[in-house]
Amino acid sequence: MYGLINMAIKQLVLDNYGESGWQSVLEKSQVKQSYFELLAVYDDQITYQLVGGASAVTGKKPEEILSLFGGYWIKYAVSAGYEPLLNLFGPSFKECLQNLNRMHEHMGAMMPGLIPPEFELEKELSPTQYHLLYRSQRAGLSPMVKGLLTALAERYGIHDLIINHLGKNEDETADRFFIEWK
Ligand code: HEM
Repeated sequence: MYGLINMAIKQLVLDNYGESGWQSVLEKSQVKQSYFELLAVYDDQITYQLVGGASAVTGKKPEEILSLFGGYWIKYAVSAGYEPLLNLFGPSFKECLQNLNRMHEHMGAMMPGLIPPEFELEKELSPTQYHLLYRSQRAGLSPMVKGLLTALAERYGIHDLIINHLGKNEDETADRFFIEWK
């Protein structure tokens, strides 16, 4: 994944556990570098190792780290100058959900090595209740979606987002989420 992701994980650890916490994460994860070029592509394994290291240091499950990271990512993306991109496709939360692919596509122009996830607003159960499909070429990242969408909803003044992972879809090509807000 792009170094931007690893640097965001680093910043999340620094914010909460300081430099010594970050050094412990590097040790536990057996990652040999402390700096990542934002726009260089690194082996996905490094990101998984950092999540594993953060889990070992904090005592939180990897799923919990991923969910926290998802929430933090929105904040980090804003501070890294990507806010216009977040605003571009989403006059409302629903439209934002419909446009998550276009947002990553847009980024693909600047990041040719991007392997983005795909989202599909599969079913409208009501104007504030949906089934959302998440497809990724990577395994195990669905807890991140929970944190991401919760933080994204906050940007639209939605503080009560309910998001439940329902499991895989019928042909097992995607993870299905139930989303609801008031
Ligand atoms: C402007 C804000 C955003 C930026 C700059 C951004 C950028 C990125 C980048 C660089 C990656 C790593 C992929 C790679 O390097 O191949 C990534 C992954 C990911 N992004 Fe975004 N993203 C943004 C917003 C979002 C939002 C709002 C969601 C909402 C759900 C999202 C969902 C994900 C997920 C789940 C992954 C993990 C990769 C995977 O599932 O395979 N991103 N994003």
